[in-house]
Amino acid sequence: MGKKLVVANWKMHGNLAENKLLFQAYIDQLSSLKNTDVVVCVPYPYLAQAQSMLQNTNIAWGAQNLSKDAVGAHTGEVSAAMIKDFGASYVIIGHSERATAYCESDENIATKFVQAQAHGLIPILCVGETLIEREAGVMQMVVGKQLDTIINTYGAAVFANSVVSYEPIWAIGTGLAASSDQAQSMHEFIRGKVAVLDKTAATSMKILYGGSVNPQNAVQLFAMQDIDGGLIGKCSLNAQEFERICCAA
Ligand code: G3P
Repeated sequence: MGKKLVVANWKMHGNLAENKLLFQAYIDQLSSLKNTDVVVCVPYPYLAQAQSMLQNTNIAWGAQNLSKDAVGAHTGEVSAAMIKDFGASYVIIGHSERATAYCESDENIATKFVQAQAHGLIPILCVGETLIEREAGVMQMVVGKQLDTIINTYGAAVFANSVVSYEPIWAIGTGLAASSDQAQSMHEFIRGKVAVLDKTAATSMKILYGGSVNPQNAVQLFAMQDIDGGLIGKCSLNAQEFERICCAA
């Protein structure tokens, strides 16, 4: 059992003054963790502040999206190289809040995944089903299709140095987390899907759970065999709650 990974997804929250306090609280409370790697994914404008405050700590930082293109006339877009310019190590890709709001296709998400790796960023690929899809019992088909787009285009080996975050859409921001058994079942499916093609990649990839993780449910979730940590939204904005989640890992 390797180190757990806990990633803070600040989403569209923060300002320079509040970020400074939260970064410092993270540093004070999380720098001594031995069995958990901590990452904070901030809005683009705060990558410089993250680099400035975190560069001499064991806390890594990243972005919440990136362009599928490397460079060019793409107004408003931010490239992997630009994110890397700020010392970032990770980037969230295909979060359901973006896929829904901006109609991100599985194909575009797959391109972003390899774009990130081409520039030395570790992709955090978000996958998950809607409540209707879960109630219909097709959640593995939905998640499997999301993974297949990458596997069929680039091969399973690309998952070796990557993170997949299972985020059931019905659990994001609702306070209704998946049960540890529901999450373990999907994580086992995800790892198994890669393992049949590339056992090494399946073993090295980290599979996080995201969706209403809090200090109360983190212990049981993180204890599950195929749950390698969490992708935390709301609770990452509260230093004390985030610390308790990181310590639960
Ligand atoms: O990316 C993590 C996020 O989608 C989960 O949000 O607020 O349910 O922890 P939250």
